[in-house]
Amino acid sequence: MTLLVAGGAGFIGSAYVRHRLAAHPGDRVRVLDKLTYAGRRENLEGLDPERVELVVGDIADPGAVAEAIEGCEAVVNFAAESHVDRSIHSPGEFIRTDVFGTYVLLDAARAAGVRHLQVSTDEVYGSLESGSASEDSPLRPSSPYSASKAGGDLIVGAFAHTYGADALVVRASNNYGPRQHPEKLIPLCILNALAGDPLPVYGDGMQVRNWLYVEDCAAAIDVVLERGEAGQVYNVGGPDELPNIEVVRRILELCGRDASLIEHVADRPGHDRRYSLRSERLLELGWRPEVRFGEGIERTVAWYRENEDWWRPIRSGEYREYYERQYGRALS
Ligand code: NAD
Ligand code: TYD
Repeated sequence: MTLLVAGGAGFIGSAYVRHRLAAHPGDRVRVLDKLTYAGRRENLEGLDPERVELVVGDIADPGAVAEAIEGCEAVVNFAAESHVDRSIHSPGEFIRTDVFGTYVLLDAARAAGVRHLQVSTDEVYGSLESGSASEDSPLRPSSPYSASKAGGDLIVGAFAHTYGADALVVRASNNYGPRQHPEKLIPLCILNALAGDPLPVYGDGMQVRNWLYVEDCAAAIDVVLERGEAGQVYNVGGPDELPNIEVVRRILELCGRDASLIEHVADRPGHDRRYSLRSERLLELGWRPEVRFGEGIERTVAWYRENEDWWRPIRSGEYREYYERQYGRALS
């Protein structure tokens, strides 16, 4: 089988490509990726070139999509603008890719008569004071990012309902692991701790996230692609919920630094306090998360320590300017 993996040069997409190739030795993957600041050829390095092809293109471009989907038997869509803080400054690009781009890709999958699996997020349920969101919980997105993702999800549902398209959605909780762009909390804090830069904690740091190791997420997506029902939504929750400040303290310990590097900074506008997912529907398909936070964070810190070649170019490029704009101070 040949799969079209949109956004496969990003963090979770590239972990999924690795998982798919290992789990299905006869398969091939075509990656369609625009290679934005978050997409990198390096993320696909070391994979068999006979089995993985990278096509550089935009999911919002119908011509590029029509060409890329040729000969593919299923589509998995990771392609998105994915960072909440960037969505607060420039929402337009999120609506273009995460809403309109999703429609273009979905329409091509429908025309080709192939399955479209949309990768989405727990953030579409909005902030939860208590309890956990099931797939039937109301959508209450609160950032331009989560609203754009919710828009994409609703279009997928409408295509399944109206046209009988073989389309479905997975909603994952916060991922972490190797190859995550350092704009996100965990890699940002690991690289700052290693460099001796302050770790910026928004507000009181008591916001709670449900952490999922990226390889567990990749395995879940594959289970849903293989065994999920068209028109359905499947939550993928991680095994551990933690306040940000605890995550940051654990990273400092693993990097051999003390709490004096923690710097409480102005809170994110509209910051969601807590996300939490129930994943019974997926558990019934046989998936289980295998990596608890304690082990996953050790593996992740070790990976960043050992892979400076991967992150050094990011930390010396556009990201430095982004960091100064976002945090009002320069990286060392
Ligand atoms: P990422 O930002 O690391 O990767 C996104 C990829 O999409 C990049 O390779 C980028 O080049 C590509 N891309 C962006 N716009 C594109 C376009 N118009 N056309 C083609 N390619 C484009 O993101 P990620 O963290 O790997 O997230 C992947 C998906 O999973 C996203 O849809 C995101 O919403 C979702 N998700 C992420 C998390 C998380 O914690 N990171 C959790 C739940 C769901
Ligand atoms: P992030 O990794 O951006 O993921 P998301 O906002 O999609 O959950 O942020 C995770 C949590 O960490 C979130 O509550 C915001 C917080 N955070 C900080 O406190 N400081 C930071 O510098 C960043 C990037 C995030």
